[in-house]
Amino acid sequence: MKGVLVAFEGIDGSGLSTHVALVSKRLADQGFMVMIGKEPTMGPIGKLIRELLREEEVDQDIMALLFAADRLWHLRRGAGHLPILEALNRGFVVILDRYKHSSIAYQSLKAEESWVEVLNSLAPDPHIVVFIDVPVAVALDRVSRRRERFYYEEARRLTAIKENFYRVLRRAEERGTRVIRVAGVDEGGKERSIEEVQEEIYVRLRAELSRLLR
Ligand code: ADP
Ligand code: TYD
Repeated sequence: MKGVLVAFEGIDGSGLSTHVALVSKRLADQGFMVMIGKEPTMGPIGKLIRELLREEEVDQDIMALLFAADRLWHLRRGAGHLPILEALNRGFVVILDRYKHSSIAYQSLKAEESWVEVLNSLAPDPHIVVFIDVPVAVALDRVSRRRERFYYEEARRLTAIKENFYRVLRRAEERGTRVIRVAGVDEGGKERSIEEVQEEIYVRLRAELSRLLR
């Protein structure tokens, strides 16, 4: 694999879509060959997932299977762009708005964590994860201003998911993934601006990419 796989992770409303778009543009402007992707995808399985997330109750085992299938689709078939595996073979820096650690953090709310890991074992580990750490209250305030709420967008669930992320990402680090943790609020708990968070992400991600692509 010649390229680099970068995944942005965090709870809903942490700013993943915002920062993936901004950092990708900056890196492309700097001459990096960048491709972006998003999960759930816009492919057939991703569309089904989005419909199910509007329901009152979801079956986490079924969701775990669907998210893993959608991910393989993304890797092997692509979703409106090159399949991720092919892009990596061609040397792209592939930047994803959510990837396998979302499955482990979200679906293990109810599904057995080790089983979710097995379902995702055909998906290569990312080289780098950017984790945007935002308090649940801030995240909920942001998501309340957009489309109707998805199943997971609720305080109790997001609090547990955030804890799951901490644990899962520590384990990923032990397996060799570089984890860039970025605080979404300052020490006093005040929201950091998009520009400030973006600058930190850009500088730290660029340094990791230079190290990996050297
Ligand atoms: P996600 O993809 O993680 O759900 P988005 O990128 O869609 O999150 O961001 C959710 C909302 O929060 C958007 O309206 C975005 O403009 C806003 N937002 C993102 N980052 C910040 C920030 N640092 N400060 C204030 N608002 C932010
Ligand atoms: P989200 O990124 O919010 O999609 P959109 O920007 O289209 O609204 O993802 C939808 C939800 O799916 C979000 O609550 C996180 C959740 N999710 C999982 O539960 N498991 C996964 O593997 C992925 C990729 C997402």
